[in-house]
Amino acid sequence: MAYTALVTGGARGIGAGIVEKLAQEGWNVAFCDLGEEQDYEGRCRELADKYGVRALYIKCDITDDAARRAMLDRILAVFGELNALVNNAGVAPNVRADILEMPESSYDRLMKINLKGPFFLTQLVANYMFKVKETKPDYYGVVVNIASCSATVVSINRGEYCLSKAGVAMATRLWAVKLAQIGVNVYEIRPGVIKTDMTSTVTAKYDKLISEGLTLQPRWGYPEDIAKAVAMFLRGDLGYSTGQVIDVGGGMEIGRL
Ligand code: NAI
Repeated sequence: MAYTALVTGGARGIGAGIVEKLAQEGWNVAFCDLGEEQDYEGRCRELADKYGVRALYIKCDITDDAARRAMLDRILAVFGELNALVNNAGVAPNVRADILEMPESSYDRLMKINLKGPFFLTQLVANYMFKVKETKPDYYGVVVNIASCSATVVSINRGEYCLSKAGVAMATRLWAVKLAQIGVNVYEIRPGVIKTDMTSTVTAKYDKLISEGLTLQPRWGYPEDIAKAVAMFLRGDLGYSTGQVIDVGGGMEIGRL
């Protein structure tokens, strides 16, 4: 039986890149997002035809507990098993505001979508994994969090984003410790500046910064760059390591004088 992965926020951007790459590697893929299910029937067929895997889109707001539970039930009904969770869904602040002015509502929104939603989805999946492991000792499972360079790099005009991603970094370590009890590894990827809808409003800013040397590799990152790192983790290539972080940002994370 082929393994099955769930990718949150898989409709576009980095998530869509991850879905494509995992399907290419032979994973059955379930992906969720906020759009209507009929709008993704074609995409699922395309993935199935192209790679000979099964693909399922589920409408699920990851901040909604009932929707999260219904999603897991559906995945298990369709695929029989879930092996990998890729927590990718996330948002940037609607308005970049200095931390002197950041509205509490934006703080709450980002914490809910970027940290609380993925945390409790992981909790749900982790409980499922513990249960499966009781009856299936060779069960294979893995979790990957898509955090951000903002887990450590400061942007004072989107502090709520930085805080939410710093929280994701601790969640990676918490789940790595807990899931080690059943041999499930947990990893984290910190993308740098990646060309997606999320960064489309700041294209000019980052074009300039990249041309001035922000990244050691002088280009934007693309969803495929992140997807390759996810595939590596899901294949088990770093099997004898867990709770680890990989920066995928063209070297921008290295502090320089
Ligand atoms: P994007 O905005 O292009 O795509 C995000 C997807 O998540 C969208 O399809 C959106 O509908 C979905 N989504 C948002 N809230 C959701 C919810 N509550 N439930 C389900 N789905 C939801 O963003 P992008 O760039 O692809 O980002 C993906 C992840 O990578 C995010 O966690 C982001 O914080 C992270 N990231 C992105 C970077 C970049 O430069 N683009 C850099 C560092 C991290």
